[in-house]
Amino acid sequence: LDNGVGKTPAMGWNSWNYFRCNINETIIRQVADAIVASGLKDAGYTYINIDDCWMEKRDPTTGRIQPFATKFPSGMKALGDYIHGLGLHFGIYSDTGNKTCEGYPGSWGYEKLDAATYAEWGIDYLKFDYCGMDGVQESVQASYERMRDALAATGRPILFSLCSWGSGQPWLWGKQVGNSWRTGIDVFAAWDTAQARALKLPSFLQPILGAVRQTQGLAEYAGPGAFNDPDMLVVGLDGMYPYGIVQECPEHVRDCKPGEYISRDRWGKVGGLTQTEQRTHFSFWCIMAAPLILGNDPRNMSKATLEILLAREVLAVNQDPLGAQGKPVWTAPNEGHTEVWAKPLADGRTAILLVNLGSSTVDITTEFSRDVPAAHAKWSRETNSTAPECVDKHELCPSWAKSGECINNAGFMLEKCPHSCPEGCPQPLE
Ligand code: GLA
Repeated sequence: LDNGVGKTPAMGWNSWNYFRCNINETIIRQVADAIVASGLKDAGYTYINIDDCWMEKRDPTTGRIQPFATKFPSGMKALGDYIHGLGLHFGIYSDTGNKTCEGYPGSWGYEKLDAATYAEWGIDYLKFDYCGMDGVQESVQASYERMRDALAATGRPILFSLCSWGSGQPWLWGKQVGNSWRTGIDVFAAWDTAQARALKLPSFLQPILGAVRQTQGLAEYAGPGAFNDPDMLVVGLDGMYPYGIVQECPEHVRDCKPGEYISRDRWGKVGGLTQTEQRTHFSFWCIMAAPLILGNDPRNMSKATLEILLAREVLAVNQDPLGAQGKPVWTAPNEGHTEVWAKPLADGRTAILLVNLGSSTVDITTEFSRDVPAAHAKWSRETNSTAPECVDKHELCPSWAKSGECINNAGFMLEKCPHSCPEGCPQPLE
C-alpha cells in the first residue's frame, strides 16, 4: 500500500505469541524499555504492538471503543506517548468483524470512528484480523478496503497489516489494500508437520515449515510497501498450548476432557524449537522479506535468542530497499533435504541462503550461473520446479479451507487442484 510507511518489512514486537490475553500497560512499557535496552530498537525493531484483548466495550452513546480500564488505567494515548518517547512506534489490533478472535468488540460498522480514535491515540500500526465474519456476504478485499480508506481519511500514516490467514487470497489484491497480508494460519513453535502432529496441534495452528511452504510460491506479489506475512516470529519462545476446544488432551493438561475448552490459565509450555531451528526460521523469514515481529518476552531473553535477532547482515537482507522476496532456486534432486534460496538486492547483488533440512552434515554448493539468474527470473508457477504440487493427502486443514479444496503437503491452498479433499481430513476447530 502506498501510504508512506512499511516500504521495507515491518520490524517490531507483538504481545500475542507470548502473553496472549494477559496484557496490561505495565507489561507493554516494560517490553518497550527492554527493546531499547537490549539493542533491538537500534537494530530496527521499532513497532510495539498490542494484540487482541485490549478492548472492553463501546461507549453506549458515542460508540467509541474503550480499553479495559483494569489493564490500561492510564489510557492508550498515555501509553502511546510513553512508547513514542522512547523513539518507538505504537501498534494496535482490531478485526473486520463484530468480534475479535477472542470475542471482544471488532470494528464492523465502526471503521471510521475507530480509525479516528487510533489516530488520536497516536497509533502507527494496525493489525486487522478476520474473525466473526461467518455469513458476511462481502468479499475479504472489500472488508479490508473499508478500513484502509478510514485510516487514509485520518491523515496519519498507519501501517496496515491484514490478517485473514490466507482467506480471500490476499496476495492477489493486497498491494492495493495493505502493507502486508498473512498468507496462512497462525504459526506455532513446532518445526514441521511431524512435530505438529506429535504435539496434537489443532488445525488452526501450523508449524514453521508449513508457513514457509505456503509463502514461498508468492514471491511475485511482494514489493516495497507490500509483503507476504507468514506470521510473527517464534524465536525465543517455547510453545504455549493453545486455547480452544481440544479433540485430544495433551498429556500435561490435567483434568482435560476431549471436546472441552482449555482456558488460558491452564496453558502449559509445550514444544519449542532448537537453536538451529530458530536460526533457520529467522533466516527463512529474512530471505522471504517477511515482517519481523517478535513474539517472545523481551524482558527475559537468552544470549542465544539475541544473537539470532541481532544478526545485522541477515537483517540487512530482510530490510533491503528493493523489497524483493527471495525464493527457493534449487533443491537437491535426490532427497530434497537441501535447498538453495536467493533474493535479489537493490545494489545488484544477490543474497543466498543454504538450507540443510536433513539431520546430518552436508555440503551445499551455490552456483553463480545457476542461482543468480534463477533469483532474478520472474516467478512462474507453471515452469518453476518448486511450485507447490498437489498431493492426495491432507496434512493440514486450515479453518479457511472450504470443503472440496485441496491443500498441498505444506498447507498451500491450490486453486486448480485435480484432487478432491480426501475423507478423514480433521474438521477445523472453531
Ligand atoms: C488470530 C490471529 C492471531 C492473533 C489472534 C488473537 O488467531 O491470527 O495472530 O491475533 O487472532 O485473537
